[in-house]
Amino acid sequence: MNPTLAYTLLAAQTLYWLYYLWQRRPRPARDDSALLLLYASQGGQAETLAKHLAQNLNTRAESLDAWHAHHPLKMLGGKTLILIASTTGDGDPPDNAIRFTRSLQKSGAALTDTRYHLLALGDKRYPHYCAYGHLLDQELERLGATRESPVTTVDNLDPQTIAYWQKQLGEHLQTTLDVPAQPPSVAATLASRSRLNPDSEQALYHLRLACPELAADTALIEITIPHKKDELRRQYSVASIAPDGSRGLDLIIRLQTHPDGTPGTGSHYLTQTLQPGEALKIRALTHHPAELPDAPRPLILIASGSGLAGILGILTRMEARYPAREHNLQHWLIYGERDPEHDRIYASCLEKQREDGVLAWLDRTYSRSKSREYAQQRLIDHADRLHAQLEAGAVIYICGSADKIGVGAQDTLRQILGEKTCDRLSKAGRIRLDTY
Ligand SMILES: Cc1cc2nc3c(=O)[nH]c(=O)nc-3n(C[C@H](O)[C@H](O)[C@H](O)COP(=O)(O)OP(=O)(O)OC[C@H]3O[C@@H](n4cnc5c(N)ncnc54)[C@H](O)[C@@H]3O)c2cc1C
Ligand SMILES: Cc1cc2nc3c(=O)[nH]c(=O)nc-3n(C[C@H](O)[C@H](O)[C@H](O)COP(=O)(O)O)c2cc1C
Repeated sequence: MNPTLAYTLLAAQTLYWLYYLWQRRPRPARDDSALLLLYASQGGQAETLAKHLAQNLNTRAESLDAWHAHHPLKMLGGKTLILIASTTGDGDPPDNAIRFTRSLQKSGAALTDTRYHLLALGDKRYPHYCAYGHLLDQELERLGATRESPVTTVDNLDPQTIAYWQKQLGEHLQTTLDVPAQPPSVAATLASRSRLNPDSEQALYHLRLACPELAADTALIEITIPHKKDELRRQYSVASIAPDGSRGLDLIIRLQTHPDGTPGTGSHYLTQTLQPGEALKIRALTHHPAELPDAPRPLILIASGSGLAGILGILTRMEARYPAREHNLQHWLIYGERDPEHDRIYASCLEKQREDGVLAWLDRTYSRSKSREYAQQRLIDHADRLHAQLEAGAVIYICGSADKIGVGAQDTLRQILGEKTCDRLSKAGRIRLDTY
């Protein structure tokens, strides 16, 4: 072939390919709908509400960060936003709203033709009640967006407040919203209760509830507590559910005592007032922090106090889905309590898990022993094991009190693995915080 012709053909072909690739370049998704339903959710409650609402409105719900990954903030212009935002940590945004929030706080975009409805989920027992919802509200107002209906704050998923907000939203959107504020509650009975640590200063109880209607993979329940003329709701991790259809449900509950000596309302009712044979209303909740990995992976389970319920629940569901022996998984459980004499709870159960090969390693620490050790100390003692297990794809779960084991275990992991690795593992869902 004539060389000039060959070069011309080659150049034409290259140009064609470049044009083809340019046509297929990633572009922000076209988004013609005026209604935008977004959520910020740590544990899954705001997400569940948003997804129910989305079905009713025939649209879809996305987390703030998932939306922002494909859209600059200026694309909020001209939209009617429906925002359902919970607060986590100490008045902080949920993980799936951090990037959006950073951009919003830095932004100077004019959102004068944006309208919004905002439902803020929180819990009045935290000092910064619904702080993240209020922050979103302030920032949208600063950029000139119009608040179409008053911001509604919801204490501890109060169903009446949620129903009221939905009614108000339906009126604005000129549609009837028939969304259950939450999944219906089911009946349960207290089958038995026993004190796990009879001589300890901080009473922990094992409760067995009978609840035939509960799904076997429920990780978290909400219990309705009768209180004066009112009702309160408290959440508890499910330590295990009997697989035999009886749905016997195990809980581990700490009797809460406030600094002024008064007992916590919910835990006092459940561990003292309620009697075996009496009925309760419970509801299964979606709970992302306790979700299992979607492939068989080794687990590193770290807990203290009543957090044992959370890690036992994860271990039980994991064993049902990916039996450790069958999948050659080496799970490591680290549990911290106070007093080696009085707080050696669940000893035979945990030992049996090790003998049966469900657990490869079991470490227990006591903060009131001579050596005064907290659970996270075992991560330092066995740093080589930690590295090797992570290398093998391990997922770390931290369960229990947010300001004790939550802060302690995370600080120690950062110290051993470094900030960057911890951030990477958290983003990949391989460090999971199930703390309260
Ligand atoms: C996802 C999740 C899972 C949970 N799992 C478990 C579990 O498995 N086991 C378990 O035992 N708990 C668990 N909890 C905690 C549980 O939901 C309750 O918060 C706990 O039982 C205390 O509730 P209460 O009604 O007894 O106490 P409340 O009286 O409601 O007090 C709760 C908190 O409010 C503050 N407070 C209230 N009144 C006073 C006062 N007068 N003085 C000072 N402070 C006050 C304190 O900080 C106190 O800790 C979990 C929580 C969450 C969010
Ligand atoms: C670890 C933790 C920290 C929380 N911090 C706050 C807070 O600072 N302010 C608040 O109002 N609510 C706080 N809450 C309550 C949640 O906002 C509330 O339970 C909400 O319904 C959870 O919604 P989500 O499941 O979508 O994250 C906190 C809850 C947890 C478990």
